[in-house]
Amino acid sequence: MLILHSFLILFFTSLIRSDPCPQVCICDNIKTFVTCANKNLTEIPANIPQYTQKLILQKNEFKVIPSGAFFPTPYLTHLNLQNCSIETIEEGAFRNLARLRYLNLGSNRINIIHQESFDGLSSLENLILEKNRIEEIKAGAFSQLGALNFLNLEDNFLVYLPDMVFQGLLQLKWMRLSKNMISIVSTETFAVLPNLKRLNLDHNELQYLPTEALTRLSSLTRLELGWNPMTFILEEALQMASLKQLFLNNMALQDVSYKAFEKSKQLSFIDMSNNQIRTIQPLSGMEQLKSLNLTGNSIICDCFLRQFKEWADVLRLKVDLICFGPSHFLGDHLDSLRAIDLKCGNFPEEVYKLPIVTEKPDVENLCPQSCDCKTNVKHAICDNKSLQKIPKGFNEDTTLIDLRRNSFHSVPKGAFLNMKNVASLHLQNCEINEIQPGAFMGMRNLLYLYLSHNKISSLNPNVFEGATKIGYLFLDHNKFTHIPKETFRSLPNLFSLHMQNNTITSLSNNNIAMARKLHWLYVTGNQIDYIAPTAFRNVRDLEKLYLDQNMLSEVPTQALKGMNKLIELRLSKNPIKNIGNGAFVPVSKSIQHLYLNDMRLQQISNGAFLGLGKNIKSLYLENNNLQNLPNMKMFNGLEVINLANNPFNCDCRLLHLHRWISGLNLKVGATCATPKNLRGQKVRNAKFVLCPGWEGNKNRNKRKIPAISTSKTKAKKYKQ
Ligand SMILES: *[C@@H]1O[C@H](CO)[C@@H](O)[C@H](O)[C@H]1NC(C)=O
Ligand SMILES: *[C@@H]1O[C@H](CO)[C@@H](O)[C@H](O)[C@H]1NC(C)=O
Ligand SMILES: *[C@@H]1O[C@H](CO)[C@@H](O)[C@H](O)[C@H]1NC(C)=O
Ligand SMILES: *[C@@H]1O[C@H](CO)[C@@H](O)[C@H](O)[C@H]1NC(C)=O
Ligand SMILES: *[C@@H]1O[C@H](CO)[C@@H](O)[C@H](O)[C@H]1NC(C)=O
Repeated sequence: MLILHSFLILFFTSLIRSDPCPQVCICDNIKTFVTCANKNLTEIPANIPQYTQKLILQKNEFKVIPSGAFFPTPYLTHLNLQNCSIETIEEGAFRNLARLRYLNLGSNRINIIHQESFDGLSSLENLILEKNRIEEIKAGAFSQLGALNFLNLEDNFLVYLPDMVFQGLLQLKWMRLSKNMISIVSTETFAVLPNLKRLNLDHNELQYLPTEALTRLSSLTRLELGWNPMTFILEEALQMASLKQLFLNNMALQDVSYKAFEKSKQLSFIDMSNNQIRTIQPLSGMEQLKSLNLTGNSIICDCFLRQFKEWADVLRLKVDLICFGPSHFLGDHLDSLRAIDLKCGNFPEEVYKLPIVTEKPDVENLCPQSCDCKTNVKHAICDNKSLQKIPKGFNEDTTLIDLRRNSFHSVPKGAFLNMKNVASLHLQNCEINEIQPGAFMGMRNLLYLYLSHNKISSLNPNVFEGATKIGYLFLDHNKFTHIPKETFRSLPNLFSLHMQNNTITSLSNNNIAMARKLHWLYVTGNQIDYIAPTAFRNVRDLEKLYLDQNMLSEVPTQALKGMNKLIELRLSKNPIKNIGNGAFVPVSKSIQHLYLNDMRLQQISNGAFLGLGKNIKSLYLENNNLQNLPNMKMFNGLEVINLANNPFNCDCRLLHLHRWISGLNLKVGATCATPKNLRGQKVRNAKFVLCPGWEGNKNRNKRKIPAISTSKTKAKKYKQ
């Protein structure tokens, strides 16, 4: 038996040997594994050995995979064509590959999948099409892939998923459609996927849950829908009998019907973190629910939450929820409170007491023509309707109006006069260049106002008259060159101000100081080169300050004075070359996350981090020009640190960093650039020596760090 066996091996080996390895490729001994990667080939090599099983062709320049390209290699099980500049897959390109199990076509330029592109791949289990430009998948394109388990279409240009596109994928278990631009899912898109267990639809453009389409997925257990611009979830919006895990995080959810998941009885985990939910009722029909994530919402822990809390206690549900109010519970975890402590009364915040959704008969249902009104959740949707004037005639109890993508140019005075129940108004992408004083008059409960992607360059101080509850104001991507003066005086409750991607050049004396309750300020992506020392005077509650992608040439230490609650400071991508002593002292007690990456930073003084220490959880210093760093020992609470892409000089003076990193249990990314013999080595692993006379120098480290130097502070005057 043994003899026969050896004989057979000998026989086959000699048979295979008769096929030479192509010159540009590398083959293993028996030529079943062939790699021709990274060769700038424009055609698939002609003489790949016939018995090849694994063929690696990544990083070439094929552009086209012609019909029958792999006819000579019918034994392939594994084929990698990543990064080959492929634009076209001709019909029948993979014919004759009935044994292929793995096909990687990622990072190419494919924009259409033809009907017969994948013909013949009857054993294929993994198909990777991520990072292409796929806009269209022809009907029947996957119909021959009856063995496919995993399909990855992430990061393409899909907008619309027509009926039956995935027809034939009878064994498919996991499909990734993340990071496309999907806004429409047809009702039969997911028909006949009887084995699909997991679906990723996150990072798309879905505004509503495609209820009917999802209902077809009878075996799905995990559904990821995060990062889609949905604002509400209606009752019975999800009817998925097997679903266990549901991700609805980082959307714009404001309302979730208590009956939303009633028909998805197996749900055990729901993630609704980072939305805009203000109160929530017990979710009906959820006997299996174990964990509900509601962090990053603005939920008020008052009497309206009591019923929810009681329900959660009975179910022994793990709820992640940090109270956003009332003020005596601000920041408290719901776990730490008892149901009976959730009360209403002592505080005048009636804005939060939204009527709990009850099924009272609607007496009259007003809805402007060209809008779509969801009366049960009191939302009016008039998105992208070519409107030129703000419509009138909304029901008075409407709580959300969506007017995105119209062309109003101007918002006139009194445009929303009777809309006293609206909490959220969407006016993004409306070509608005003028907002008249009193435009939002009457909107007594407006909390979220979205005005991003318009052409606004200034705001009259009286623009927000009568809408004093506004807490979240979005003005990103407009034409502001400065922070509007006096405007925030009329917004005493402003909590979060978004002015990213404008062309603001400086933050002057008083304009922000008016917004005394401001907690989060986002001015990323402007041209700010000066911040007045008093710019934030009185803004004592600021927690997040995003100053990244601006033109600052130094850390605005003076302006940070008095910010005792600042948690996160972003200065990335500013042309700051040096950080001087005591730069962060004013915020050193509170700050936890510090972003100093991508700044062309050359030097950090020995006392630059004075006062900082175990509070710091993340520190970003990557992509700078740092050759050395001051002592980092005091950072002993870090969870993230990034030092990558700095030209560290690994001589004896960097020994302290090497020692510090060696004691850290974190990925750091620091590598040596000099001296030459250490270039490219990790600071963690490089061999360091003590500096000559080190023992004698030791005391130097103990010397007091110089006090805060203010002499360098720019004396530039701000021109009003
Ligand atoms: C491939 O082409 C690029 C640019 O045309 C060149 O820089 C590179 O050296 C080439 N690689 C090989 C392996 O020929
Ligand atoms: C493909 O190219 C991308 C971008 O050029 C690169 O990030 C990726 O690592 C490459 N992948 C492979 C397998 O070569
Ligand atoms: C809840 O969501 C937050 C924010 O997304 C996340 O940091 C946290 O880990 C989540 N908790 C659970 C239990 O999933
Ligand atoms: C807006 O509507 C037009 C037709 O009315 C349509 O062609 C376009 O795709 C829509 N845009 C978006 C972003 O939905
Ligand atoms: C700002 O502009 C950048 C680049 O165009 C974009 O990636 C980012 O999403 C924009 N941010 C906002 C808030 O509009």
